[in-house]
Amino acid sequence: MCGIVGYVGARVATPLLVEGLKRLEYRGYDSAGIAVMNGKGVETRKAAGKISQLESVVLSSPVHGTLGIAHTRWATHGAPTTCNAHPHHSCDDAIAVVHNGIIENASTLRKLLEDRGHEFRSETDTEVLAHLIEEHFDGSLETAVIDALRHVEGTYGIAVVSSRDPNKIVAARKGSPLLIGLGDGEHFVASDVSAILAHTRQVIYLDDGDVAVLCRDGYRILDVNAASQIDRQVSRIDWDLDMIERGGFAHFMLKEIFEQPASVENTMRGRLLAEEGTAKLGGLNMTADDLLHIENIVITACGTSWHSALIAEHMIEECARVPVEVEYASEFRYRNPIVSDRTLCIVISQSGETADTLAAMREAQQRGARAIGIVNVVGSTIARESDGGVYIHAGPEIGVASTKAFTSQVMALAMFTLKLARLRSLSVLQGRNIVQAMHQLPQQIQQILDGAPIIERIADEFKEATNFLYLGRGYNFPAALEGALKLKEISYIHAEGYPAAEMKHGPIALIDENMPVVFIAPHDSVFDKICSNIQEVKARGGRVIALTSRDEPALAGLLDYEIRIPETIDMFTPVLASVPLQLLAYYIAVKRGANVDQPRNLAKSVTVE
Ligand code: G6P
Repeated sequence: MCGIVGYVGARVATPLLVEGLKRLEYRGYDSAGIAVMNGKGVETRKAAGKISQLESVVLSSPVHGTLGIAHTRWATHGAPTTCNAHPHHSCDDAIAVVHNGIIENASTLRKLLEDRGHEFRSETDTEVLAHLIEEHFDGSLETAVIDALRHVEGTYGIAVVSSRDPNKIVAARKGSPLLIGLGDGEHFVASDVSAILAHTRQVIYLDDGDVAVLCRDGYRILDVNAASQIDRQVSRIDWDLDMIERGGFAHFMLKEIFEQPASVENTMRGRLLAEEGTAKLGGLNMTADDLLHIENIVITACGTSWHSALIAEHMIEECARVPVEVEYASEFRYRNPIVSDRTLCIVISQSGETADTLAAMREAQQRGARAIGIVNVVGSTIARESDGGVYIHAGPEIGVASTKAFTSQVMALAMFTLKLARLRSLSVLQGRNIVQAMHQLPQQIQQILDGAPIIERIADEFKEATNFLYLGRGYNFPAALEGALKLKEISYIHAEGYPAAEMKHGPIALIDENMPVVFIAPHDSVFDKICSNIQEVKARGGRVIALTSRDEPALAGLLDYEIRIPETIDMFTPVLASVPLQLLAYYIAVKRGANVDQPRNLAKSVTVE
């Protein structure tokens, strides 16, 4: 959700800023801009559309300087026009601001500033910040920023430069992720490490309330309230550049789908205890007593992460016999949820920054629950604010549609289930059986990936469809939801996921010869039931694509297309089922000419409510 990058050092800033923006483009891509100190003042270039548009603008009209800030936008306030693109300026153009987040009292502040003679040039909430900082400016940019932020309600990650205090970038954070990168005679600010990874691995994650002052030769971090200096720990990033590049694949999404044998392996690495039939999860920070003390579990998440929560609900209730409730984070925070100090709140988020999920976690913690995070991005806010957790170690996920994070989340949740269940009712033999099934998954996923050309051919048949229905039962109802979400997100085809047996209570009315229906029908405990649902669709002329795991006489003559997945225990069928569904969505979208990695209107990390 919007990306920020800033640079101060000895090198020419523009190429570094544009390169950083390209790596952040997945966070938002409706407009972009840069502001560079050119020795006399702040010089700005902006363009509506993708970063490539901005790149053309700076090529035809270069900006020279060694200090600058840049932004790629995902519109919240104001249309995605050049005028609304960041950076935004003060009246005298001496101050430029880039901003992620939402200023909630923007209209009140704008009115006050207009009454004091400030003239606004955009419809954005961000422009208020530029004028407010101008209003408070008295020689020091950081002091002006701190004074201005005291009047602001809402969330922000900002970077500010000024020709009136020209050798520094001031950055501040409240609710929107921001980090600083430490180089040799140079410093960076960014909303995400990928923007600066090519230049430094040493970073400091800013906390809410931090204001950082970056100069060529040093940095300081101040507290927004006390304005006093504070220390923050330096972290070392162990991702490398290859991991955030496409590596020969046509799209990040395809690369990430094909990485799943490795990413799933990485999630499990060193954590499974085959002999004991359990898992070792040091980051949970929970003793056996703590785990036994849990009375109920609430899992909260958004989007794809919410689907892995639904799978976890089945796993935990089946194996550990602890009651689980799954809540959309956006709903949880505005209800009056029943949470006690014996409630464990599991928070699932790839980015670790989703605003609704973070707020839901804080709400649960405030009500006395312990919160654990199932998170991919190391050092993210949810990872830091949770009481413990499990990093899924899927590696950077750049494609906006989540793929490898989903399968790794399920693996992490399965390990948590094992640990909890072995302390309760699960026998060592049952535990070993689960561990054994987990060990087979990477190679089973590879088997599915080897069959990608078959899925591509099926995609060709259905690329013109206007609707799709995905049906599954038990563990595979969430897989049906996830399959439908993938297709919607990247191909813009309307798709619905439904519990297969519920189909007859409504969606069955939609079925005719134009409706492709994807059934997830591995040979599991509900296979016989799903056969009847397939017959119901066939009887109404629907076109059936089925994911099966063996030759099934019961399905003879009923399937128009069949995709084979390997056999595993019931709880891991959604992991295997989700892979061909990701590929189906991917190939359909590509054949329709859609922008797979940057689907319209979406953003990878939604840091606003
Ligand atoms: C956005 C993304 C989805 C993602 C959801 C939750 O909507 O487009 O792909 O599933 O946010 O993100 P999180 O980072 O919290 O898992």
